[in-house]
Amino acid sequence: MKVAIMGFGVVGSGVAEVIANNADHIRTHSSVALCLSHILDIRDFPGSPFAPYLTKDFNDILNDDETKIVVETMGGVEPAFTFVSACLEKGKHVVTSNKELVAKKGDILLEKARANNVNFLFEASVGGGIPIIRPLSVCLAANRIREIAGILNGTTNFILSKMITDNMDFQTALRLAQDNGYAEKDPTADVEGIDACRKICILASLASGSHIYPDGILTEGISKLTKDDVAYAAKFGCVIKLIARAKALESGQWCVTVSPALVPEDHMLAGVCDVFNACFVRGDMVGDVLLYGRGAGKLATASAVVGDVIDCAQHDKERRTFGWGKAKDGLLCDPMTAPAKLFVRVKTADKAADTAKLNALLPGCDFAESAADDLVFITPEAAEGDLRNAIAPFNAASVIRLF
Ligand code: HSE
Repeated sequence: MKVAIMGFGVVGSGVAEVIANNADHIRTHSSVALCLSHILDIRDFPGSPFAPYLTKDFNDILNDDETKIVVETMGGVEPAFTFVSACLEKGKHVVTSNKELVAKKGDILLEKARANNVNFLFEASVGGGIPIIRPLSVCLAANRIREIAGILNGTTNFILSKMITDNMDFQTALRLAQDNGYAEKDPTADVEGIDACRKICILASLASGSHIYPDGILTEGISKLTKDDVAYAAKFGCVIKLIARAKALESGQWCVTVSPALVPEDHMLAGVCDVFNACFVRGDMVGDVLLYGRGAGKLATASAVVGDVIDCAQHDKERRTFGWGKAKDGLLCDPMTAPAKLFVRVKTADKAADTAKLNALLPGCDFAESAADDLVFITPEAAEGDLRNAIAPFNAASVIRLF
């Protein structure tokens, strides 16, 4: 079956390599014969072994009736949305690794796929090479999903790991992540939690059955974290991780957040280091499940893309039912009403006076041994908004949730 690729960047070139290198294995083990037809990119790639497939004209793909499966690895919403829509409307299956596209336009594209009796698959959009979309949609289909919590961004996990274990500064670690091809074109999406937010929205949409858009999700990144935060977290027996979390409430609402969090060193997510991702899922029947693996990188992500391509080829005339419906008003709760504990670091000129003031405003805080000009504590549990109001007079340098 002929496969076209739109976008010959890190992931797209990995897809071409996997198809070229593993075609025989795929034919033997999956009974599917895959071959490349076109690769769309506006750039030139002189000397590339895939040069014969390269085109700058999308119509070469759209109007080729033999190309039944189109891989979208361009990234961004446009022109990816226009091209993917046109392919689905033309009766082609589409496989994407583009989490921004799925998080922002998944409801529309899933509906187009339904209407045209083709598949729109996106396993690689969350967790790189880790299987997560199928486990949630198929293996755990018997469960009401109560919670999903993950380290879903390889770049930030790599940076935090370097800050924690190698005492590296933020910029050096970021450059290293970029050199390794982990970071997005604009690393702001990684370091400010935007990429993780798109991914948890995809998982929360699958779990809740209704599209959850990234806009309006409480999203904080790691760019303001300091080595002091990392060191004080260790005094509480914790490491700092960027956690994307979706929790089902008894009310039927979902609480979805992305933020750094203090994770106890003995928790399974604390041991997830470097570019690795992990996703913890709690189902009402199965209990707790942890999925772990390479969350970014060329061949790991291409592995998930080609898995979807094989699935499309094996189900050319059938529909896979991974997806969700339209967004529902009132589905999301205000995270400030949810119970939380906060780690707080305050710069202080009078530690004794500030400690007394804090004890009066918010009794029950747990203090860390700290430098003379730092007041560092963990609050008792209460509604997060109430906690933030209580500590507002201290103008904290850092406020980080506990996992
Ligand atoms: N920039 C992303 C990450 C790539 O670092 O996780 C995979 O989605």
